Amino acid sequence: MATDKKIINQPIKQLRLIGNGQPEDVVELHEGVITSLGPNEVLVEMEAAPIHISDFMLVGGIYGVKPSLPATLGAEGIGRVIDVGSGHVKDYQGKRVIILPYYEQGTWATYLVAPLKNIVIVDEGIDATQLAQLTINAVTAFLTILDYSELNQGDWIGQTAANSAVGQYVIGLAKINGWKTLNIVRRAESAEFVRSIGGDEVVIIGDNLGTQIEKALDGKQLDHVLDTVGGTTIGTIAGFLKSRGSIVGYSSESGQTPVIRPLDLFYRRLHYHGFWVIDWFRITPKEQIDRLIQHLTGLVDEGRLSATVGGTFPIEKYKEAFQAAKQPGRPGKYFLTFNQ
Ligand SMILES: NC(=O)c1ccc[n+]([C@@H]2O[C@H](COP(=O)([O-])OP(=O)(O)OC[C@H]3O[C@@H](n4cnc5c(N)ncnc54)[C@H](OP(=O)(O)O)[C@@H]3O)[C@@H](O)[C@H]2O)c1
Repeated sequence: MATDKKIINQPIKQLRLIGNGQPEDVVELHEGVITSLGPNEVLVEMEAAPIHISDFMLVGGIYGVKPSLPATLGAEGIGRVIDVGSGHVKDYQGKRVIILPYYEQGTWATYLVAPLKNIVIVDEGIDATQLAQLTINAVTAFLTILDYSELNQGDWIGQTAANSAVGQYVIGLAKINGWKTLNIVRRAESAEFVRSIGGDEVVIIGDNLGTQIEKALDGKQLDHVLDTVGGTTIGTIAGFLKSRGSIVGYSSESGQTPVIRPLDLFYRRLHYHGFWVIDWFRITPKEQIDRLIQHLTGLVDEGRLSATVGGTFPIEKYKEAFQAAKQPGRPGKYFLTFNQ
């Protein structure tokens, strides 16, 4: 078995975290060299990587991943293998690959080294920004529905922040599977957008949220609920979930604890499940991960699954990219691009 390290001396630029705080204060552009490649590693020339809210949380020191500093940044992304180690990795040469979100190699970099367990080969010809954001948000949409419910055609999913990237994937999956969606947003423009991509019912957070939901559902109940807003918003929606139904909470954009009425939790036996996709990647066999990524990539290729792109910035313009990615009401996800 080959064990030798291969000398490559590849110059790179990467974004590095040097402390915890605001991204513009604690992220710096580092120029260095990757000196060698292990036997079962590949060198990836990066195309694109998304900037997520969770990246800013990690930068602020309030995320589930707390790397020792200085740390490379960027959770997921897409690139191409341009060199391979001396082990059984030759088949990967030249292949386009998705980097899985293990936080073991920062994807905000012109080049990175990855072990085979952290990459999945994907087809050519699919838009880089769609592939770059697939492993976190599309996988979250898929699993928070499929792993926690048994929905039939015509069943209703309720979701908060429906115009978010995850929300858009949920609507895409619902259309594919014949489920209906009740979508909650916080702005009128988002309501229009969510309808335009196929959301069945859309209501806007406000004092009369319960009345709006009641009217939209017209006597029906929700069969499953997904939440990323928390606070009393989720409590209101939970009141319309069928008894013994599941709420899957995957974040709290409001920063507030999810408040679900005791009446719903105990007498109607609702289940609240916390979900973190990074943990799913950590505990799931690689073959199963590969199958899900290939499935979702196929749906993207067929144009049945996508999330809006706000814009792209070359890595050197990372401060402008951060500003854009932080704006409330942004038109879509922002990406760093490399080697273009
Ligand atoms: N647990 C997990 O495994 C997991 C996986 C994926 C994502 N996430 C989390 O899920 C959330 C959504 O991710 P994403 O990438 O899809 O987000 P995104 O595309 O950046 O969208 C963020 C959404 O949150 C809404 N929002 C922000 N502040 C809000 C508030 N105070 N009240 C109500 N809505 C608010 C935004 O509304 P506007 O458009 O009006 O600003 C927008 O709809 C993030 O917090 C992310 O970290 C968690």
